[in-house]
Amino acid sequence: MRLRSVELEVPDPPAAVAFMRDVWGLEPAGVRSRTTYLRGTGDHPYLLAFIASATPAIATITFSGSAGELDMLHARVVAAGVPAPARIAEFDDPGAGGGFAVGGAEGQRFRFVAEVARAAPIADRNRPIQLTHVVLNALDRDACAKFTIDALGFRLADRTRIMTFVRCNNAHHALAFAHAELPSLNHIAFEMADIDAVMKNVGRLRDLGMTPAWGPGRHGPGNNVFAYFITPFGASMEYTAEVQQVDDSYRVGTPDDWKWPPNRIDHWGVSSRDHARLGEAERTFRFRA
Ligand SMILES: [Fe+2]
Repeated sequence: MRLRSVELEVPDPPAAVAFMRDVWGLEPAGVRSRTTYLRGTGDHPYLLAFIASATPAIATITFSGSAGELDMLHARVVAAGVPAPARIAEFDDPGAGGGFAVGGAEGQRFRFVAEVARAAPIADRNRPIQLTHVVLNALDRDACAKFTIDALGFRLADRTRIMTFVRCNNAHHALAFAHAELPSLNHIAFEMADIDAVMKNVGRLRDLGMTPAWGPGRHGPGNNVFAYFITPFGASMEYTAEVQQVDDSYRVGTPDDWKWPPNRIDHWGVSSRDHARLGEAERTFRFRA
């Protein structure tokens, strides 16, 4: 299974689309009714959908896999005691796969879609390839993670003092849940070809007058290079690279494994974090009741 896309509701889709296309580096991937799609350079049909809405919200987080993987997952969801999710013959999105949606522990909505046809990759090393993880704020981060493990077949990757990381393939995490007072979108991470591509984009956005809200730096869990920016439409987005690849031999970390020395918040010890800007962004995209 692979993380495919995030579907966001925004009051001004044209402005959000313009930023993510012209500044962030995504490519147009079509328009359907009130939804606009943007893709990366990889083989996913799209990575972000912007849906016109009166207020911001995170509508869905979508994963894709083979038809066989979807059948196995559907059976697992039912075996976990979740009412059988309705099978959708074909979602009306680019990629056109069928699948089903499952509600998470705190109002999250996860979709699982069959990969029918892959998009032709675009040759450009300096633009985002695909999503690599989504972090969600959660009231009970371990209960949210447990649901994805028990019902959705994810595996626990790491636990820190405030975050729980889960994976659905060999990438260290596809989802993480951060302890917070409000269930919401924390941030979305875009995989870049390498550290050079991350840093070039940090420089390019600096030239446009944008400073990272956190980074550049290198994370503890996942060991990925990161730089976070707050978009004009209020979401926190991350350029990242070199995400650690793990398998079942990986020892799941505990909070005691992930303690930083005083005044350090990443491996390099060079990053600073704008808590106010990040905190405001993390409260903007909530789940619909
Ligand atoms: Fe991240």
